[in-house]
Amino acid sequence: MVSTQTQIAGFSFDNCLMNAAGVACMTIEELEKVKQSAAGTFVTKTATLQARAGNPEPRYQDVPLGSINSMGLPNHGLDYYLDYLLDLQKIEPDRTFFLSLVGLSPEETHTLLKKVQDSDFKGLTELNLSCPNVPGKPQIAYDFEMTDKILSDVFDYFTKPLGIKLPPYFDIVHFDQAAAIFNKFPLCFVNCVNSIGNGLYVEDESVVIRPKNGFGGIGGAYIKPTALANVHAFYQRLNPTIQIIGTGGVLTGRDAFEHILCGASMVQVGTTLHKEGVGSFERITEELKVMMAEKGYESIEDFRGKLNHLN
Ligand code: SIN
Repeated sequence: MVSTQTQIAGFSFDNCLMNAAGVACMTIEELEKVKQSAAGTFVTKTATLQARAGNPEPRYQDVPLGSINSMGLPNHGLDYYLDYLLDLQKIEPDRTFFLSLVGLSPEETHTLLKKVQDSDFKGLTELNLSCPNVPGKPQIAYDFEMTDKILSDVFDYFTKPLGIKLPPYFDIVHFDQAAAIFNKFPLCFVNCVNSIGNGLYVEDESVVIRPKNGFGGIGGAYIKPTALANVHAFYQRLNPTIQIIGTGGVLTGRDAFEHILCGASMVQVGTTLHKEGVGSFERITEELKVMMAEKGYESIEDFRGKLNHLN
């Protein structure tokens, strides 16, 4: 019997597939659809303290090999998502969900996390250190000193399960430096990767999104090799207590299989979910199960992290 069941931070999930923050997670209606799909859980849209309208439209475009977006963190504010999750905990006490958040400053991030700490929220919190789309605000996790300081301050008061959403890194030295920082903290997971920041898509002599003169985060098939490299690099470097969530370029069951092979315990679907809807979870799960059955694997632990290297 093939199972795609998984665990993160000791919480069990019936399926290792879920949405990536930013897709199908802005409103309660969208989150309910993911909850009722074949996905094992969901993550909410990254919340700031106050609701935000985000960047001017058009700000998301599906393109043949993926997507480009410069959403600019539109969201309904932390209370909207936290209140929903607190209600959900009463209705579905046996399921665990992810809350994504980040402040527009370190102070705001601490305000958000203190609110979560002081609430009854029992799920997993994902601190987004990688949004490339807020004008004037660089991706936090590219600044190692800042990342170290924020995490150090956070773990002075935050005792609930916490993970971080990372941007892609592109240099072995940066994998080493980032992992050395993350290993200092009781993180439950790292999520690799957010979109590849600030790409440019050109069509008919024009950019395709309005904000930032067309520069935006790239997702979809374009980014799978980069995503797999980040999943595997951190799988090799992080303490085994820090699990990996793999995100980027998951179009098929084979893509999900590769993320798990590289070390992911959970796999997120972003661009494909946007293009295909929540039915993509069932399709990708079935494709993954067929592939596992063909290879004689019954659980994802049978092959997770067991990527072969050439000697
Ligand atoms: C956005 O809202 O701009 C996307 C969020 C992200 O990439 O973290």
